[in-house]
Amino acid sequence: MIHLSDVYQSYATGTRALQGINLRIEDGEFVFLVGPSGSGKSTIIKLIIAELLPTAGRVTVNGYNTTKMRASEVPYLRRTIGVVFQDFRLIEKKTVYENVAFAMRIVGASPQEIRNRVAYVLDLVGLAHKARRKPTELSGGEQQRVSIARALVNNPSLIIADEPTGNLDPDRSLEIMMLLEHINSLGTTVLVVTHEKELVNQFNQRVVAIDGGLIVSDRTGGYYQYEQYENRYKHPGESTPEPTEQPEQPEQPEQSDEQQA
Ligand SMILES: Nc1ncnc2c1ncn2[C@@H]1O[C@H](COP(=O)(O)OP(=O)(O)OP(=O)(O)O)[C@@H](O)[C@H]1O
Ligand SMILES: [Mg+2]
Repeated sequence: MIHLSDVYQSYATGTRALQGINLRIEDGEFVFLVGPSGSGKSTIIKLIIAELLPTAGRVTVNGYNTTKMRASEVPYLRRTIGVVFQDFRLIEKKTVYENVAFAMRIVGASPQEIRNRVAYVLDLVGLAHKARRKPTELSGGEQQRVSIARALVNNPSLIIADEPTGNLDPDRSLEIMMLLEHINSLGTTVLVVTHEKELVNQFNQRVVAIDGGLIVSDRTGGYYQYEQYENRYKHPGESTPEPTEQPEQPEQPEQSDEQQA
């Protein structure tokens, strides 16, 4: 479970990246986190993996309160989370198999556990037949699937992906999102940061939209809800969606469940 409660984040430069975030993600959920560049998406991810501590507020992830935990506990929190990066971050000299197995070795798994688990996750991402290849011998989509296998191999309860399809073409991007959805259906909580509206709209999942460090929409079923806000919070260089008939907008963004409770 992820719970951000009244979270503010300011950077040393004075930038107020988050300005009062309340967000709760239950175990087993699939959530898209969307919003324009600079809106605070990666800052939220950094708070969840305890790379940052909030300037104010509380962040609880998988039972760990990141503001109260000791430095020595951080690795235990991180073991409950698998992270997938936009640029894959594979080790070029190692084979696919070794890239994934390595993540288990560093947490001290036995050779037998490693053999079984690596075979399972490579099969899950559809790359069992490429286990002996090196990353440079794979397509971008295949490399991203290796990095998903690596994120999954230590059986985390949560997978976080920050722009996992940023370097992929639309077909490969769809495959990656479908894979993440499949992984979610097997019980892992999935949080995906993405800019790609068309992609998000192909899934009927919860979409949390952030803008200017605030949650401006939190609905299930596509990015279109967020576009209504985009008309009000215009950003230079971004295209304006076609004008369509829209219901009256509330003055304030909807309250989160927690605020209502
Ligand atoms: N280390 C940092 N030091 C100072 N300011 C930062 C730092 N990291 C991010 N910021 C600022 O905080 C705000 C939020 O940044 P963040 O990286 O969370 O945005 P984002 O939504 O992930 O954007 P993008 O879609 O471009 O990745 C931005 O104004 C950014 O310039
Ligand atoms: Mg970012």
